[in-house]
Amino acid sequence: MSAFRLQTLDSTTQPWANQFLERYWGSAAVVSRGQVYDAATSPGFVAVYNNQPVGLVTYRIAGDACELMTINSEVKGVGIGSGLMTAVAEAARAAHCQRLWLITTNDNLAGLRFYQKWGLRITAVYPNALEISRQLKPGIPRIGLDGIPLRDEIVLEMAL
Ligand SMILES: CC(C)(COP(=O)(O)OP(=O)(O)OC[C@H]1O[C@@H](n2cnc3c(N)ncnc32)[C@H](O)[C@@H]1OP(=O)(O)O)[C@@H](O)C(=O)NCCC(=O)NCCS
Repeated sequence: MSAFRLQTLDSTTQPWANQFLERYWGSAAVVSRGQVYDAATSPGFVAVYNNQPVGLVTYRIAGDACELMTINSEVKGVGIGSGLMTAVAEAARAAHCQRLWLITTNDNLAGLRFYQKWGLRITAVYPNALEISRQLKPGIPRIGLDGIPLRDEIVLEMAL
């Protein structure tokens, strides 16, 4: 049995979420298709494992679409990532969303694996989009995971 539980991201967990997002993404600012959003004050869920917050997903709903903005788990392979995805999909369905979508980057091979196994499909690729995102968030590194140059944005989505 997985020893984790999920709780809603709220004012009590926002300070932790802010630090967590800083650690993983440089800051809580998320750039999506030319807009900057503050993930720490967005809707989300915190995964608590052995009484410690270890995972976070944040999302935003616009019209009939839900964008998953960030997802991270410090404890891997026990179902926390899937649990966070399910929580967002359920929240999106409850808000009458028709689709769930997200942006990842060309270096995130593990993310591409995880999302596709979870049911999302690649629906768009924006070559060199990171150049534009870097103008809005200069901290985005030039070299990403596994030493791969960080250049392109990949959109994945699924119907809800
Ligand atoms: C992507 C990420 C959120 C996945 O989180 P996770 O908690 O490891 O995900 P899960 O545990 O649900 O699933 C991962 C694997 O563990 C397996 N698993 C899940 N529960 C399990 C269990 N109880 N026992 C054994 N294996 C299990 C899953 O089947 C899956 O296997 P697969 O990779 O062969 O498909 C996490 O790896 C992460 O934080 N990555 C870095 C951040 C990142 O890239 N975020 C995306 C940005 S776009």
